[in-house]
Amino acid sequence: MVGLGVPWRGILHPRPVELKGLDSLVSPSSFGRPPLTTQSLLTSARFTREYLPVRLSRRIRALRNLPYIIVSNPNISTIYNNYIDSLTAILAFPAGSLTNLTEESKFTELLTEIVKTHSNTIPILAKGFLECRGYVTPEEATKFLDHHLRARIGTRLMAEQHIGLHLASVPQPPTVSVPGKSYIGTVDTELRPAEIIESCASFVGDICELRYGTRPKLTIDGNPDITFPYIPVHLEYIITELLKNAFRATIEANSPVPVIATIAAAPGPPDAGGITIRIRDQGGGIAPDDLCHIWSYSFSTFNGSRSSIGSGNSGRLEDVDDGGADGGVDVMGRFTESAGALETSSIAGLGYGLPMSRAYAQYFGGSLKVQSAYEWGTDVYLRLKGVGLDGV
Ligand SMILES: Nc1ncnc2c1ncn2[C@@H]1O[C@H](COP(=O)(O)OP(=O)(O)OP(=O)(O)O)[C@@H](O)[C@H]1O
Ligand SMILES: [Mg+2]
Repeated sequence: MVGLGVPWRGILHPRPVELKGLDSLVSPSSFGRPPLTTQSLLTSARFTREYLPVRLSRRIRALRNLPYIIVSNPNISTIYNNYIDSLTAILAFPAGSLTNLTEESKFTELLTEIVKTHSNTIPILAKGFLECRGYVTPEEATKFLDHHLRARIGTRLMAEQHIGLHLASVPQPPTVSVPGKSYIGTVDTELRPAEIIESCASFVGDICELRYGTRPKLTIDGNPDITFPYIPVHLEYIITELLKNAFRATIEANSPVPVIATIAAAPGPPDAGGITIRIRDQGGGIAPDDLCHIWSYSFSTFNGSRSSIGSGNSGRLEDVDDGGADGGVDVMGRFTESAGALETSSIAGLGYGLPMSRAYAQYFGGSLKVQSAYEWGTDVYLRLKGVGLDGV
């Protein structure tokens, strides 16, 4: 652990439970370091039981407020029905229940099921919006998806936080993988970004091998020993997307220069617990005309085509298909393929990577910024604050 002060200060101390704000989302972890006492675990379950329905109801209301033609799209209505089903299942645990570990275990099983059911929400919603592109502007679609995604990150986190606390507190059969000792729920209090960068680079490198028959080199510099408290799956998601972009650009520009990931402690007081990661590539940068679109859901230049949800020129979607590099799989096909997991195994093409990564980064007060030197390369700055620290 290098010089980042007391990383779980905020996590370990109970805070007042507020409905609004990020505090309410990390407060399930305020019950102490696992294994939790039965009483703390039950309190966490009741907290989750109390606030999840509010969050799910808000999503249901937002979907219901969409124009009728959009809500009646089969993909959008699938998601709508998923939310209704999840809400109904949670409300089947009456207020005042969850008073013993048997009920709590059943509730945790339900949460696990709900997390699974909702894992494809964003690709399915985006596919629905694509199908409704004549009735919604790209700005409206992006605004809805962005808002939905941000709300969803919190909802999912709330469910996963309790699942994580349960797994670490109630004895599990050997077949179930339980969080390591440095975890509090979903938060790894000693997360080492360098490790995540290495494993994501290996994964993205494999995708490149499959797609292009080659993989760029990656160098990690700065301070690879830094650790900070964060949610590993969030960082993995962001880094995978940034490396996919950097590797793709490097290969397509035929650049022999390695991608460089620089890790540094964020500016601020020594115990601020934040980090900065800069991913630098010499893959030719982003064309000035494209720069203003890169944060739109579904904007992609993959295969040399441009597509974006709600594009007035719906022929753009066929352009992607015509690129032919996917052997005739059209963009809808790619959505369906990727619907199994957001960590799609294709190198690019959905146009979610940057907007979704930014939403994840901003969730805990971080940021994601892109600087492009056209015909040279791209620098992406990811700044993250430690989760559970003051200010979160
Ligand atoms: N490092 C980079 N170098 C060059 N262009 C980039 C880079 N990062 C992003 N871009 C441009 O921004 C576009 C949008 O990026 P984004 O990651 O959101 O979508 P994508 O990579 O096309 O698809 P995916 O959903 O698989 O990430 C890319 O298609 C590409 O044109
Ligand atoms: Mg991408």
